[in-house]
Amino acid sequence: MHWNTQLYDQKHNFVAKYGENLLHFLPQAPQQTILDLGCGTGTLTAELQDYGQVTGMDASIDMIAKARQHYPQLKFQVGNGLTLAPTPQYDLIFSNAVFHWIPDHPTLLAHIFQALKPGGQLICEFGGAGNIQTIETGFAQALAQVGGTHQQRFNFPTTDTFGQALTQAGFHVKHLVTFKRPTPLAAGEAGLANWARQFFAPDLAHLTAAQQTAVLAQLATNVSELWQNGTWIADYQRLQAVASKP
Ligand SMILES: C[S@@+](CC[C@H](N)C(=O)[O-])C[C@H]1O[C@@H](n2cnc3c(N)ncnc32)[C@H](O)[C@@H]1O
Repeated sequence: MHWNTQLYDQKHNFVAKYGENLLHFLPQAPQQTILDLGCGTGTLTAELQDYGQVTGMDASIDMIAKARQHYPQLKFQVGNGLTLAPTPQYDLIFSNAVFHWIPDHPTLLAHIFQALKPGGQLICEFGGAGNIQTIETGFAQALAQVGGTHQQRFNFPTTDTFGQALTQAGFHVKHLVTFKRPTPLAAGEAGLANWARQFFAPDLAHLTAAQQTAVLAQLATNVSELWQNGTWIADYQRLQAVASKP
C-alpha cells in the first residue's frame, strides 16, 4: 500500500490525535526503551519521547522519510512488525492505528512477544469488528457500479479473537475493550472523498480519473446518513489492548 504522506499529514492527522488517548497507559521511566510500531509520519513518536527512549518503525519508506524530515532528532527505522528481530530489547511496544493493516495477528503478536523484555508491555489501538462498516459497504457498492470489486484488506477483529491471539502468543491481557468512535473527517464536503482516496487507494488505482470521481460521488450518496451538520462522520469502532509479557 502506497501512502500519500502529505494527504495523511494534512487531512488525517486526527489518527495520531486520537492515539494520544493511549498515552496514559504508559508508565513513565526515562530509561525504558519504547518501539512505536507503524509510526507513520512520527507525530506520536515525538510525544513518546516524554516516556523513555523511543524508536519509530514503519514498513513504509515514504512514511519514515517524512518522519525523519519532521523530527530529525529522533530515531526512526524502516521495518516490519511481522519480521521484528527475535531479541528482547523493548520495555514497551506502542502501536496506534496499525494492526488492522496486518492480516496475520498471531504471527505479528509472536514477533512482538519475542521483541519485548520480560515484564514488557504491548499498548495498542486499532480498528475493531464493525469499524467503517457503513463506509466500506457503501464503497463496495459504488465500485461495483463501474465494474470494480472492492478487495477487503482490513483485519478488524472482535475482542474475543484478539484476546485469544494475545493469550496464545503468551501475553497476560490487562486491558481489552472495544468502543464506537464517530470520527469527524476534515475538509467539509471533501472529507469523505479525501478519506477514501487515502484508505481505498489500491481499489481506486485501477480506475480512470472520471471513474474515480463517479465512484466517490456514488459513495457519498450511499452513505448519506454519515453527513451530519456539514461534516462527514466516519463510523469508527476501535479496539484497545494492553498486555504484558510475564
Ligand atoms: C494509519 S497509519 C498510523 C500511523 C501512526 N501510528 C499514527 O498514529 O498516525 C498506519 C501505519 O502502519 C504502517 N504499517 C502497516 N503495516 C505495517 C507493518 N506490518 N509493519 C510496520 N508498519 C506497518 C503503515 O505503513 C502506516 O504508516
